[in-house]
Amino acid sequence: MSETNDIKVRADGPLLCTGEIEVYDADGQLLEQGADLVLCRCGHSGNKPFCDGSHREAGFEHDGMMQGLASDELEGEGAKLTLRVRPNAMLIASGPMRILRADGSCAATRNKAGLCRCGHSANKPFCDGSHKHIGFEG
Ligand code: FES
Repeated sequence: MSETNDIKVRADGPLLCTGEIEVYDADGQLLEQGADLVLCRCGHSGNKPFCDGSHREAGFEHDGMMQGLASDELEGEGAKLTLRVRPNAMLIASGPMRILRADGSCAATRNKAGLCRCGHSANKPFCDGSHKHIGFEG
């Protein structure tokens, strides 16, 4: 059992997830589990929801230095983090987690979060509904 689940927002790149993580597809099938998973947040991976390096070619930009995010008091510390793909939309993260900036500092703690995977949210790393307007598919 891990002490914390961390989602590190890498500058111009993916979400680096460490801890005890499970990723499920939109049908509830387990896609991957592990202690170290790398998830696409640019919307261009050919292997969604995982990163395949396409952010470089796509020229994805976001410095990963979020400010002023609201935090939750963590519940069930030591519990696993579950990530579920929403079709053509965000990833729903459930479980205690820290959201880390690109420099490793903690931007927020959450028990649930909708994480952008289309690359167009104005509130990265969280979804703001922009996937609907851009016709994101994945
Ligand atoms: S998935 Fe990007 S704004 Fe919702």
